[in-house]
Amino acid sequence: MNFPSLNNIEKVNVRQFQQDLLHWYKEEKRDLPWRKDQDPYKVWVSEIMLQQTRVDTVIPYFENFIKQFPTIEALAKADEDQVLKAWEGLGYYSRVRNLQAAVREVHEQYGGKVPDTKEKISSLKGVGPYTSGAILSIAYGVPEPAVDGNVMRVLSRILSIWEDIAKASSRKIFEEAVRQLISREDPSSFNQALMELGALICTPSSPSCLLCPVREHCCAFQEGTIHELPVKTKKKTMRHVHLAAAVVKTEKDEVIIQKRPSEGLLANLWEFPNTELSGMGSPKVELELFLRQVYGLEVQLDSEPFAKIQHVFSHLTWDIDVYGGTVSIADLKRENSRLVKAEEVERYAFSVSHQKIWKKARQK
Ligand code: ADE
Repeated sequence: MNFPSLNNIEKVNVRQFQQDLLHWYKEEKRDLPWRKDQDPYKVWVSEIMLQQTRVDTVIPYFENFIKQFPTIEALAKADEDQVLKAWEGLGYYSRVRNLQAAVREVHEQYGGKVPDTKEKISSLKGVGPYTSGAILSIAYGVPEPAVDGNVMRVLSRILSIWEDIAKASSRKIFEEAVRQLISREDPSSFNQALMELGALICTPSSPSCLLCPVREHCCAFQEGTIHELPVKTKKKTMRHVHLAAAVVKTEKDEVIIQKRPSEGLLANLWEFPNTELSGMGSPKVELELFLRQVYGLEVQLDSEPFAKIQHVFSHLTWDIDVYGGTVSIADLKRENSRLVKAEEVERYAFSVSHQKIWKKARQK
């Protein structure tokens, strides 16, 4: 295929570029827990965690997850609730459900060995072009591209590529660039070096060009267009949803919790009973009506919310008014709801916003 936006690649001394980048990576790379060995399972777990989540946040989660589920077999056989609990707070929970489903397939279909071909690995649930390229190159040394947003930013500057990186179709152009630049001797370090350069030097708003090991190869540096690249159009605007939630207790210090549906946002995580507000009545009245109709409960809610929580997702913001309340008898008619002892609430995997609710409730 012909890629007109890659016309600058001919100007790059590929050999020299690889040497400069790899030499810098060897000297400067961060000591990260997933770099201790090249176990494909650990590389896989780390790459899934690192999608949409910062390195600093991922480190303790990765260490804990690998301690709990050290092998493909351990994760394949683990209880889903325990796996969700280990992911609690990382967000984008479909990542871990897909990971476990894919790990089960590897356990059953491939004798527990992560496949080493593009075709087989790409057919696993949740493994897209980025993840398959990352596992193949980092764990198996296959010269495949692993292009995420950071790599696109770096390469858009080095090669002065003006394609909109927010468009899905642009990834192919950047993958072709990596195919032409990647070191055949050390694809693992090459791809990680591009990621590392994006994280440490070639950052979005104030790149440290004077410290950059490949500045001499960088078209945008020479053209003075560093701050105009990459081109990235804005996503659609946020949707705001106003909710009211209830921390309802019984006289025996038990609390009502609810499991979310198995599909969609935050699937299978636990939360406190809550409803989206229509704005017709007061939040308190709407919430009481909801608890009566859906749970069959006559709850006496406090007159004012004890907390207001905001949670921002990539596409959605939740504003939650949180009310305390008590019931004398709690015979719950809603499916997947449960009455648990207050001291046992933390055994369940909650979404971050509802963890915040519980933290506030305990301080009440
Ligand atoms: N971001 C995505 N993958 C990464 C990795 N393997 N190391 C550091 N940062 C990353």
